Amino acid sequence: MHILIDHLTQAASFYRGQLRASPRAVAYLKSRGLRGDIAARYGLGYAPAGFQALREAFPSYNDRALEKAGLVAVNDGGRRYDRFRDRIMFPILDDAGSVIGFGGRVLEGDGPKYLNSPETEVFQKGRVLFGLTQAAEAIAATGTAYVVEGYLDVVSLAQHGVQNAVATLGTATTGQHVERLLGLAKRVIFCFDGDDAGRRAAARALDVCLPHVTDAADVSFLFLPRDHDPDSYVRAKGGDAFNDLALEASSLEGFFLASAMQGCQLEYAEGRARLVATAAPRLQQINAPAMLRRILTAIAGPSKFSVGELIDLCGLEKNMLLTIDRQ
Ligand code: UTP
Ligand code: MN
Repeated sequence: MHILIDHLTQAASFYRGQLRASPRAVAYLKSRGLRGDIAARYGLGYAPAGFQALREAFPSYNDRALEKAGLVAVNDGGRRYDRFRDRIMFPILDDAGSVIGFGGRVLEGDGPKYLNSPETEVFQKGRVLFGLTQAAEAIAATGTAYVVEGYLDVVSLAQHGVQNAVATLGTATTGQHVERLLGLAKRVIFCFDGDDAGRRAAARALDVCLPHVTDAADVSFLFLPRDHDPDSYVRAKGGDAFNDLALEASSLEGFFLASAMQGCQLEYAEGRARLVATAAPRLQQINAPAMLRRILTAIAGPSKFSVGELIDLCGLEKNMLLTIDRQ
């Protein structure tokens, strides 16, 4: 086994033990509504408050490998200290189920709400999906993967019977994530908080998806009601309600069109030109011919251009779009 994974696994085991030993950390998880069996399923732990608490798990605390694993940091004075202190620890696993990093949440008080492991030899954020090991079976069984933003969203959904959810790691969704997900599930539903930040994140996710979607894939975008994230929603309404809500998710095409038309005053030629200008670079990214055809047809109406004109205006001649009947 990779030496860093060895250390990270040992740290995860130490953090799990520390959680059992900390009534305060247990109380925090209880206050978030989490059951013990779910905490165990996700291997949740607690990093104690001391600066060198990991010494207990690693007698050779000065080992450089602990730095390389992202567990120990070194300050300007050369003093070594635990990166994660007084945080609830979410282990991040690779495909083999080995620990490759952590997300750590403050219980309350100072510092960033979540601290994540740095990129290391074994941990590349753009590839990893939190919760995939636990979700894989349910994703295969349902043919559906939910992609949420937070660690706690994944864990809380699972507790409420929605086991097929994974999270990107506080980074934006990447093309690698999308490729991965589309290889695992025929339906991928990106879930976003019902606020402006959620809308912005969704627009970014859409852009990332465009080059990767195929006509066989079913990618959609779910916006939770305002003031909800998946965790709060499922806690308030239950897992069935979440699955029901997801049936109403916007299709990729629907969300594409809504975003492209947003802010365009379609009663004016300028507004219609703006719609085409916003859509063009995104249309160029699409490699799914049937989807592209449907989107062009949908834009034709409001833009008052024919599909053929749109192909010219958007520079799509060279795409496989030549298969589209010019009208
Ligand atoms: P949110 O701020 O939406 O938090 O961040 P949350 O998931 O609802 O967490 P709770 O319910 O307050 O515990 C969503 C995700 O963004 C990343 C984390 O991956 C988090 O799960 N994040 C957030 C960070 O990496 N750092 C931060 O400081 C905040
Ligand atoms: Mn939350």
